[in-house]
Amino acid sequence: MRTIPDADQLADGQTCEDFGLVELACRNWGGFIWFNMDADPDPLEDYLGTVTELLAPYHLSEMQLTSTSTVEWDCNWKTAIDTANESYHTTSVHPQMLWYMDDVNTQLDFYSRHSRCITPMGSPSPRLHLEDQSMIPGALQDMMLQAGMDPSTYGGDLTTLRRDIQQHKRAQASDMKGPYDELSDDQLTDSHHYFIFPNISLTLRAESATVIAHHPHPTDPDQMTAYISVLQHPAAHLAEDQTLSQLLEQDGFNLPRVQRGLHSRGFQQGAALLPQEARIRHFHDVLDAYLTP
Ligand SMILES: [Fe+2]
Repeated sequence: MRTIPDADQLADGQTCEDFGLVELACRNWGGFIWFNMDADPDPLEDYLGTVTELLAPYHLSEMQLTSTSTVEWDCNWKTAIDTANESYHTTSVHPQMLWYMDDVNTQLDFYSRHSRCITPMGSPSPRLHLEDQSMIPGALQDMMLQAGMDPSTYGGDLTTLRRDIQQHKRAQASDMKGPYDELSDDQLTDSHHYFIFPNISLTLRAESATVIAHHPHPTDPDQMTAYISVLQHPAAHLAEDQTLSQLLEQDGFNLPRVQRGLHSRGFQQGAALLPQEARIRHFHDVLDAYLTP
């Protein structure tokens, strides 16, 4: 507080300092400021647990912010998180990703409240049933160019491409030596998506990170705001990622329809979740445990 009109009428000589806002628990970790509305929260490192060790090789705090955006969606914040926590919707909502991402052979991991999904990138989805393994789709050629490879002289095929991109990155990218040093070969191509309970979606690639903070609307449970930040390692020199805005548009089109479906009188039996949607169940189990006395 800067000033109090007629402050001399306050009892006991009270000043602006006596009327400060309640302090919020804040910590700086990984280059981000984390806050907790709980007056006495667990220490952040304890709360994040194993996730801090898994994120360490990416050196998040050394990445630089390249863009931020704010998106308002007509859905509950949990509906958007459910979407972020499964790749089952890729084939119907983001079919363009199937050309460079294996949405079938994903790995799901669970860490107390949090979870992770590893998605192989650099090989197409088995759902496409591509018969000619020698034809490299355009999206994968873009990935090769990004890695410094020349698609026109490539002698391999779709069965070798992901591994070759990894090895090429490892061998050629001397200026990325720092960021790549602590990453495994698979981490040089693949997407590692972390869900940090209750509302953070963190997509990691070797050179970049996309963070989405899902915030509930203050009064309307059918609206939410997503705060999106894109970060890059200073040595990465990546072209502006056009795919993110397309993904957000596609999800933004879909989410209000999913929300309406959840409210439908015809939706009585709940969702039948597949094993690949296990992170949705995990999120809601953790949330229910917090909300159930
Ligand atoms: Fe999506």
